[in-house]
Amino acid sequence: MQITVVPASPKTGAATVRSLLADPSATVKGYYRDLNKVPAEFKAHPRFEAVKGDVEDAATLDFAGSDAVLVITPPLYEEKDIVAHAHLVAENVKAAVKKAGSVKRLVYLSSVGAQYDRGTGEILSNHAAETVLHDAAPEVVFVRCAYFMENWAMNVETIKEAGFFFTTLTPLDYALPMIAVQDIGATCAAELLATGTPLPARPHIFELHGPRAYTSVDAQKGFEAAAGRSLEMRPIPKEGLGEFYGAVFPPQVAAAFVEMNASYLEGGILYEDPRPTAGEKKYGKTELAEVLKELYGA
Ligand SMILES: NC(=O)c1ccc[n+]([C@@H]2O[C@H](COP(=O)([O-])OP(=O)(O)OC[C@H]3O[C@@H](n4cnc5c(N)ncnc54)[C@H](OP(=O)(O)O)[C@@H]3O)[C@@H](O)[C@H]2O)c1
Repeated sequence: MQITVVPASPKTGAATVRSLLADPSATVKGYYRDLNKVPAEFKAHPRFEAVKGDVEDAATLDFAGSDAVLVITPPLYEEKDIVAHAHLVAENVKAAVKKAGSVKRLVYLSSVGAQYDRGTGEILSNHAAETVLHDAAPEVVFVRCAYFMENWAMNVETIKEAGFFFTTLTPLDYALPMIAVQDIGATCAAELLATGTPLPARPHIFELHGPRAYTSVDAQKGFEAAAGRSLEMRPIPKEGLGEFYGAVFPPQVAAAFVEMNASYLEGGILYEDPRPTAGEKKYGKTELAEVLKELYGA
């Protein structure tokens, strides 16, 4: 089975390629806008081909011969309209799928909360892509992922340098579903390899969580185990999110992160979740402490 990952550059793209290559029946094409960034572990693999292409440019995408496609809308950290950008990327991929004629299944790596058209900040990009991709192939799967455990990577620097870390997950004992990137890769690969197996609906949608929900205190314990010492946690209250994200991101990006972060705290739309994703939930196996240990490099 030939499977295309577009783009393959995000960490979730790499995790999916890794899982796919573990199955001898899969040959994989991965799109990169910069071929110098193809990981060495894939470059030499006989069933992997790196293709130069940019999801922002429809003319560079050619899926002829592919049976299945994994689509990712890469996050933007520059001053662009994130919704318009995700819409463009999804339209480009949809057109390439139609042109190829061979693609039976499209899997979109989406987010918890992608069903909402307001109040979720950055997740509105996933909503925009879902509205375009819902009928892009005979079989369509939306994998709505929980908060990535790898988001905690941003704290490693202050932990190593000064023994503390900021957390925007408050109150500190509030538990949020989280998922490891390697489990996202394994789940997306399984969905792609199941191409041709009947699905209950188009699109078939499920949420992907880790083995349990985790609190900021769990993150502190995990980092302390990795660092081998006690660490100070510095909580950012909901009212302080604007200043916090404004210090590291340009204004539009910061605003999207503030709204997304607030959406899963008490009072936010994802906390209330008035229109939950119907049907099954799937669960990864990897625990937060395992991911934090790896991020820390212990
Ligand atoms: N973080 C979360 O908690 C969370 C939760 C649920 C869902 N999601 C969603 O998950 C998706 C994937 O996130 P991720 O964390 O895997 O992404 P990521 O690793 O942050 O992706 C960054 C990569 O995207 C590539 N990229 C950017 N623009 C590109 C373009 N025009 N063409 C090709 N490649 C491009 C960049 O490649 P270069 O090497 O070329 O610069 C960069 O390496 C996003 O849609 C996000 O909304 C995230």
